[in-house]
Amino acid sequence: EDQVNQNIIGSPARVIPVIDSTNQYLMQRISELNSGDVCIAEYQSAGRGRRGRQWISPFGRNLYLSMYWKLAQGPAATIGLSLAVGVILAEVLKNFGADNVKVKWPNDLYLDDKKLAGILVELTGKTGDVAHIVTGIGINIAMSKSQEESINQQWINLEQAGIKIDRNKLACEMTNALRDAFIQFEKQGLSAFIERWKSLDNFIDRRVKLIIGEKEIFGIARGINAQGALLLEQNNEIIPYIGGEISLRSA
Ligand code: BTN
Repeated sequence: EDQVNQNIIGSPARVIPVIDSTNQYLMQRISELNSGDVCIAEYQSAGRGRRGRQWISPFGRNLYLSMYWKLAQGPAATIGLSLAVGVILAEVLKNFGADNVKVKWPNDLYLDDKKLAGILVELTGKTGDVAHIVTGIGINIAMSKSQEESINQQWINLEQAGIKIDRNKLACEMTNALRDAFIQFEKQGLSAFIERWKSLDNFIDRRVKLIIGEKEIFGIARGINAQGALLLEQNNEIIPYIGGEISLRSA
């Protein structure tokens, strides 16, 4: 009844109800893909999160969506790109009534201080300067109680927040917005997104803790710089932090 359907999306969307991972699916097929191609699933048996974690992906009206892109700026642009995707995702969700949606560096979406969605940008090789990028988005829309219990972090879904959405419409608008964002990112880089990111920052001017391996670093979050590094104020000095192994928490 409420399955995501393919027809609403303009160009090829591969809608595959049961899959290992939509990111994995596209990464295995880059030779057949064009920028903007999308894969959507209803269930992932091996959904992937950042930093080697699993993304628990039950049936039940969540959204698991990945998009392929040949990124002209090359692999180094991946961090900036993931921040731009966060902005886009937040803006789309706002249009669906999630007024208080925020971003958390580097690329989570938060609502009421809890995780609403995650973004995983994966690089799957390059041809000359062009990086082959797969961007995966997991949005918590609705889950059952038993499914909720298996997730070990503070999280929220749209249903709990009282927001009703049409998943087909969300998938469609997300796809269009992402394609537009990639095009804009290729023209202007992260600069087109920095101010928008700052206006959505869940932790701006708040005390936070960065976890880097075994180390914990405390400071005040002061937004991001042009490279997409997190700016942390420590002892009246602003220090940029960047890298896939950093985890941000409130402190
Ligand atoms: C994170 O917050 O750790 C990122 C989660 C990303 C999950 C999405 S769901 C669709 C796509 N396919 C995957 O295997 N992962 C991403």
